[in-house]
Amino acid sequence: MIPKETVDKIFDAADIYDVVKDYVNLKRAGVNYKGNCPFHDEKTPSFVVSPAKGIYKCFGCGAAGNSVKFVMEHEKISFPEALKVLAKKYNIKIVEEELTPEKIQEKQTVDSLFIVTEFAKNFFKKQLHETTEGKNIALAYFKERGFNEDTVKKFELGWSPKKRDAFTENALKNGYKLRFLKETGLTIEKSNEYKFDRFAERIIFPVHTLSGKVIAFGGRTLKADKKTAKYLNSPESEIYRKSKVLYGIYFAKNSMVKQDKCYMTEGYTDVISLHQSGFENVVASSGTSLTVEQIRLVRRFTKNLSIIYDGDAAGIKASLRGIDLALAEEMNVKIITLPENEDPDSFAKKHTKEEIEKYFSDNETDFIEFKANLLAEEAKNDPVKRANLIKDIVKSVSVVPDRILREEYIRSTSKLLKISEEVIFNEVANLLRKQFEDKRNKNYGNFQKQKPLKHQLPAKTAGVYSEVIEKEIIYFLLNYGNEIIEPEGIDGKISVAEFIISEIKNDDLEFHNLIYKGIFLDYEKYFYDSSESVQDFFLKHENEKISNVVAEILSPKQELSRIWEVHGTIKDDTKSKLSSVIPVIIDTFKLKIVQLKIEDIKTQLSRLQPSEKYEEELSRLLGELDIFDPLKVKLTEYLEKLALL
Ligand code: CTP
Ligand code: MN
Repeated sequence: MIPKETVDKIFDAADIYDVVKDYVNLKRAGVNYKGNCPFHDEKTPSFVVSPAKGIYKCFGCGAAGNSVKFVMEHEKISFPEALKVLAKKYNIKIVEEELTPEKIQEKQTVDSLFIVTEFAKNFFKKQLHETTEGKNIALAYFKERGFNEDTVKKFELGWSPKKRDAFTENALKNGYKLRFLKETGLTIEKSNEYKFDRFAERIIFPVHTLSGKVIAFGGRTLKADKKTAKYLNSPESEIYRKSKVLYGIYFAKNSMVKQDKCYMTEGYTDVISLHQSGFENVVASSGTSLTVEQIRLVRRFTKNLSIIYDGDAAGIKASLRGIDLALAEEMNVKIITLPENEDPDSFAKKHTKEEIEKYFSDNETDFIEFKANLLAEEAKNDPVKRANLIKDIVKSVSVVPDRILREEYIRSTSKLLKISEEVIFNEVANLLRKQFEDKRNKNYGNFQKQKPLKHQLPAKTAGVYSEVIEKEIIYFLLNYGNEIIEPEGIDGKISVAEFIISEIKNDDLEFHNLIYKGIFLDYEKYFYDSSESVQDFFLKHENEKISNVVAEILSPKQELSRIWEVHGTIKDDTKSKLSSVIPVIIDTFKLKIVQLKIEDIKTQLSRLQPSEKYEEELSRLLGELDIFDPLKVKLTEYLEKLALL
């Protein structure tokens, strides 16, 4: 059984055009594509693919369906098989699940909640379009606001009647279980006799998932008094997790891909008005600050995010965090500030599409400029505030995972704030190191922090200590230094090189092999200074020993250690495993050093001669053992857990 989330993911990923074009030669025809039908013989194309609807249809033979159906029909395979084919195309992992009784229960609940929200959506629509109350109050309101009929239909807007329990009563009468009415928040139960509608006397904005199913509602009151909350929203439920949803994503996704851009607004009406003005790549965070999940949702369709802020500066500063989150997700973030007292909705109403377009492109600033402008005013003549402003911008720059992009930002910050690149660079580097240490300590306990492994390798180690692990670290630096990983236990991303460098430096670890040590030291310098290819840099290294060793490490015959065997890794698959493998390698390195250190202490203990300093030496060595023994246990346990020893 393929889990539902995976099925959804596959459906979301499998864009109909993208799927069909692998099989049929398609030509653009207006908003659609046309080609010769693969299901019957024809000379003139009558096979149409509609990306907007997500379907194909042949006007010759009648074949029709979505992308999964297409694959089923074309390959003559079953539904699950077709899902697997598509999962492969889109690199989606399928972990089949066994259906336990709890799982079945859960699935039934989720299905029931969807059925209830679907019913409610239709109820609210009907109330809007087919009752006198709905038409007179709500439809009239939409009209007055300038939402045209198509818009109202497209967004499936609705009306929840004045009567306090109109919906609840109707739903119960139709056999919907109270339990699910309550779980979706549509019904509020005060007592057995007193149940009422959450949204009574409000216009309704259904919230759609990526695939168009309704999971929640926003209800706006039409009363102007201050006592009534302007909006009420559905509570969280099994099907609705606020932090993962963006209002309008279902209607925006195609356009987001086509325009390669997403506009982020605040509210329901912003999305709707901009749509009506011809901007479909618009979503809303619905009044809350952006979450990582929401940003990742956008990133599935485009990396270019333009956040539109209302003309009143209030609240902007509070929402700056969203910018940093987006930067950390490698988004290209721009900011558009509207004229005073305008929100996207009001602005769209007053201007033509061309004017809006021009305003957007003229006023789009990058986040550095935006922050600088925002904070510059107050920082003008105050050196302390100015320093804080710089820190603030540096902080944003430091969350950008991509080094090259980060450097670009450093350059533009330097220009804009008239501060040397080097100063900013150092600030960023400090911050990065600090952030990383904090994360590491928070998540891996504090054993590293407590007693750094101040390590001076004992002189006589030959034969005891295998240098393979050092070679391996170099291997990964050279081959994968710029790859971004998300090591477990660290919330966030980091490049392989930065991870390894900071791990090794935090604990003052030292390579035993002098060549590897040299490579590591030069690598660090290279990494922060040079844009040349790392492999070229080392292959052309002035130290011939280094260039020879690097050539050997880079050669395809390079043998990998058992970490790789255990992981059953084939070379092609290396990248996806980096997040788990790199920390293991580093910890293995640490363990080796700790083992060595312990051995060395023991040797010293056994050779301790009676002398004046005997007591002192003894307690020093025992003290060291006290540090390293628990470390060894801890690392061993950790690595054993991974079955790598
Ligand atoms: N919002 C909310 N609850 C509130 C106020 C606002 O959930 N009490 C959310 C809604 O998603 C709303 C968005 O925040 O769309 C922006 O709020 P606001 O600007 O006040 O609403 P508008 O969308 O501009 O609505 P209108 O133009 O009808 O006033
Ligand atoms: Mn508004």
